[in-house]
Amino acid sequence: MAGKRTFTMIKPDAIGNGFMGAIIDHIIKAGFKVVALKYTRLTVEDAGKFYEIHKERPFYGELVNYMSSGPIVAAILEKENAVEAFRKTIGATDPTKADEGTIRKLYAKSIAANAVHGSDSDENAGIEGSFFFAKREICE
Ligand code: CMP
Repeated sequence: MAGKRTFTMIKPDAIGNGFMGAIIDHIIKAGFKVVALKYTRLTVEDAGKFYEIHKERPFYGELVNYMSSGPIVAAILEKENAVEAFRKTIGATDPTKADEGTIRKLYAKSIAANAVHGSDSDENAGIEGSFFFAKREICE
């Protein structure tokens, strides 16, 4: 059964370009409930650990440097079938391939600086949420 939670980060490009508020608003208007929220900055070590599943990919170094280059917003979101619903809301990883009206189509510039992260499975949503939030920081 599909889970009701997913995890997202608003990435440094979107924060730097002044889209933090618009993206949070877009997420809420798309029917997601924010159950945990944090404005923070990843160290190179943090970003390396978070994206460890991509360690063998050619873009790993670029991704880690980029994700530690400025502040991010981390959040846990709730909705029925949350992982799939959120991936539809954000659009394709490459913003040039994202559908009209999606967050990446509206706010992203490139595949690396693609405005937001969204978990790709229920299992990873749990792991990624726990990376940023203690149990007491998640509001049921
Ligand atoms: P995200 O959803 O955060 O998950 C992994 C990230 O790796 C992805 O979004 C992209 O920002 C990044 N990524 C994927 N493919 C490439 C690529 N070819 N070049 C640079 N970054 C990439």
